Amino acid sequence: MSELILKPKGTNDALPEESYRWQYVESVLRDAAADFGYREIRFPTFEYTELFVRGVGDTTDVVQKEMFTFTDRGGRSVTLRPEGTASAVRSYLENSLYGPGLPVKLFYIAPNFRGEQPQAGRYREFHQFGVEYLGSPCPAADAEVIGVYSDILERLSIKNIRLQINSIGCPKCRPVFHAALKAYFQSKKDRLCGSCLERMERNPLRILDCKSPVCGEIAADSPVGLDYLCDECKNHFEETKSMLDAMGIGYEINPKIVRGLDYYTRTVFEFVSTDLGAQSTVCGGGRYDGLIETLGGHPTPGLGFAAGLERMLLVMDAQGIPIPKPEGCRIFVASLGSAADKPVQKLVNDLRKLGVKAERDTMGRGLKAQMKYADRLGAAFSMVLGDNELEAGKASIKDMATGSTFECLLSAEDIKNAVT
Ligand code: HAM
Repeated sequence: MSELILKPKGTNDALPEESYRWQYVESVLRDAAADFGYREIRFPTFEYTELFVRGVGDTTDVVQKEMFTFTDRGGRSVTLRPEGTASAVRSYLENSLYGPGLPVKLFYIAPNFRGEQPQAGRYREFHQFGVEYLGSPCPAADAEVIGVYSDILERLSIKNIRLQINSIGCPKCRPVFHAALKAYFQSKKDRLCGSCLERMERNPLRILDCKSPVCGEIAADSPVGLDYLCDECKNHFEETKSMLDAMGIGYEINPKIVRGLDYYTRTVFEFVSTDLGAQSTVCGGGRYDGLIETLGGHPTPGLGFAAGLERMLLVMDAQGIPIPKPEGCRIFVASLGSAADKPVQKLVNDLRKLGVKAERDTMGRGLKAQMKYADRLGAAFSMVLGDNELEAGKASIKDMATGSTFECLLSAEDIKNAVT
């Protein structure tokens, strides 16, 4: 026998016994997105590398260390999508989605790829549900977007999640904050790691997401953006908070949230679970008022979030939230003798076409083994077709739970009415 080939590190299979859980969460997400007026966008799994370098930012860990980048056969550098926002904005611009007017409200459910060190809740291929709200500068949009995820948590009965918000300012006030950060880190530079020394020069904000414990300790006492906001940003943040208050959405202000991607401006937020380990952020997002322009569009504000499906399922698991299981086999049709083979095949096919989950044996089993198989499938009903039944044009159907039986004509319609 040849050696088995296993899945790549940091990837997961969703096995048949668990894929219904994904389908359930996805259907709740789709319903919520539709109720809030977001329309689905699907984009390619890979893009030209330049999109993420320019969109996500070349000082981020995602771009510097985590992208799966390769050269295609034509010699162009392409990258497996590490996040959805850059792709959504690229498509919005490429397809002039702004044409009919703003705002444009998009959602996606898509796999993403980051070459991170895998651990519980952190994978190299993971799935995000994301929304992007393009065109509005108003705090009402910030509150709406946060409200979408807040509502999703309710719909999924997920508890123990804290919403943390912050504002990281705009290009007007950010330079002052950066200068303060740089001055602070400059005074500690002997203890910073090599990457952070470089970050200090190019983008000191990125030191705040360094994974080294020493840098983390230093960053804990660094200046916070909220103290450096310009009046417009301050008002925007105040207004966003009072919108959330009006909606009854609880939040905490966490001045340390800066997010790991470069495009953010003003409002940033995270939904953090107390039931997950180190990877406790189930959803992250914020405003990116400069991104559309950076990617070649007219200056247009935007914002959004993405939530990891794996982390949502982990939290639901940890909280023992029941997920409705799909219905199994409705009726198993066993065959007795070779004459019944084709009639069984036809009957099962006819039942399926009528929407009845019908099964038969295709392994050449004897009757006893067929009934065992019916048990394994969890069939609600079973029937046996042999010479006698074929001749009589009827058969007895057995209710597998109670053991009781009843007669039924051998017509798919009649059987359907009897078992559903
Ligand atoms: P992000 O914070 O990089 O933001 O990712 C959002 C969420 O995706 C995280 O909170 C987490 O649930 C999940 N996630 C990220 N990396 C992994 C991983 N390696 N394994 C498992 N789950 C992961 C973004 O991606 C932004 N595009 C969000 C956004 C949309 N901002 C504005 N619009």
